Amino acid sequence: MNKKTGLFITLEGGEGSGKTTQGNQLVHRLKEMGYPVVWTKEPGGTDIGRSLREVVMSNRHKDMVPETELLIYMADRTQHVKSKILPALRDGKIVISDRYHDSSVAYQHFARGVPMTTLNFLFRELAGGLIPNITFVLDMAPETAIRRIKKRGITDPASLSKFEEEALPFHRKVRHGFLKIAELEPERVKVIPADRPREEVFQQISRHLSALLPSNGENSHESF
Ligand SMILES: Nc1ncnc2c1ncn2[C@@H]1O[C@H](COP(=O)(O)OP(=O)(O)OP(=O)(O)O)[C@@H](O)[C@H]1O
Ligand SMILES: [Mg+2]
Repeated sequence: MNKKTGLFITLEGGEGSGKTTQGNQLVHRLKEMGYPVVWTKEPGGTDIGRSLREVVMSNRHKDMVPETELLIYMADRTQHVKSKILPALRDGKIVISDRYHDSSVAYQHFARGVPMTTLNFLFRELAGGLIPNITFVLDMAPETAIRRIKKRGITDPASLSKFEEEALPFHRKVRHGFLKIAELEPERVKVIPADRPREEVFQQISRHLSALLPSNGENSHESF
């Protein structure tokens, strides 16, 4: 890719909606096409972020107040953007993040009630206010997503977060939040029905993305 045209892609959606599954496939395909790709996530895209992730997602901290939660996510994001995402974008890479700022808006604002003015201020003033080129919201009913998570089993105990144990009304607020974000920013945020076979979800993502990809990956004459 051209030095000045890094591309920032984010995958968003509730627990178990398929973000990691789709991200892995996307990274694999883009690399095959010859693009330099950085695959990262929030929280925990950096060393410092991994420590913060343990604190913010741990089942031991169910009594964490929403503002503390927000500040930890913002600390993770600030470190992530400044030390990893921006340098990669400046190098002309494609950065794909498994969750980013829209998750804070959906969880900390829409589900937990922290005012948007607070989120916007911290995001802009501390975390750099970097806006993704395109965001995919993997949308599905939380009931179905929770069934998927239960089937997935616990491969990594740290991945069983306190959020997965929240009740359905919480997950419904999160879903509503993501859909509201998409409604407000239809150019950037694409809602992808995620309760479909993996290949079908991937095709929908690819369709939106192919319009954005510069045609200078090594094998970029290939399509998705
Ligand atoms: N389209 C699909 N159809 C059926 N099962 C799927 C589909 N996509 C992913 N899964 C399975 O559902 C489970 C959750 O998927 P995945 O881990 O990718 O979701 P996630 O959004 O990353 O979840 P989390 O928020 O917990 O990180 C996994 O076991 C995965 O294999
Ligand atoms: Mg995941």
